[in-house]
Amino acid sequence: MSINRTTPLRVAVLASGRGSNLQAVIDAIEAGQAQAQIVAVISNKKDAVALERARKHGLTDIFVDPKPFVGRPDSRDAYDRALLEILQQHEVELVLLAGYMKIVTAVLVNTYANRMMNIHPSLLPSFPGLDVQKKAIDWGCKLAGCTVHFVTEGVDEGPIIIQAAVPVLDDDTPETLAARILVQEHKIYPRAVQLFAEGSLRVDGRRVFIDGAKPEREEIISAS
Ligand code: GAR
Repeated sequence: MSINRTTPLRVAVLASGRGSNLQAVIDAIEAGQAQAQIVAVISNKKDAVALERARKHGLTDIFVDPKPFVGRPDSRDAYDRALLEILQQHEVELVLLAGYMKIVTAVLVNTYANRMMNIHPSLLPSFPGLDVQKKAIDWGCKLAGCTVHFVTEGVDEGPIIIQAAVPVLDDDTPETLAARILVQEHKIYPRAVQLFAEGSLRVDGRRVFIDGAKPEREEIISAS
């Protein structure tokens, strides 16, 4: 059952790098394609391009330095507790991991169960982890793609929300394949945000159902 929100969904984005997925979500919001507002962009890297993009759009950018936490026995949990405090201060309803290259702990995952998404450049459950475009080529895959999924404690394991597939071409390099996949990432991540914002996502165990699927959704799911 979809809902009509009276206020935009409050979203935080966690990013470590260039932030092109962050940019895609910003652009979708600014174009009225996602009923959401980004209330904080948070990074574990001071010089992340994602933070620059946030500032350019007048969004709150926050660097949370991991250094003070290093060496503590509970360093990962403590870091995530610091993040959680920020998320709660900003009354965040949905957290997006967008090229966030740090494993999130139960501290965040449990608080934001089914309210934290990640984008990953493979057709999960194939190729979790790193260097996945190269792995898809080396394996001889004919299709590759990307996945938006809810985040659970297992890395790249949570319930799948949307996937998009692209062909693997004979002359693909990891870079050319990554670029083709990225085009699809920029479509499906904002779409997943809007589906969440309108209350169209229903999670049942490992399966995520999209209520009232419309033709354009089918198009995204099978994008080539
Ligand atoms: C994206 O391709 C995203 O799917 C990937 O990092 C890139 C970040 O790019 N994420 C992962 O591999 C997570 N396992 P961006 O900073 O331009 O959005």
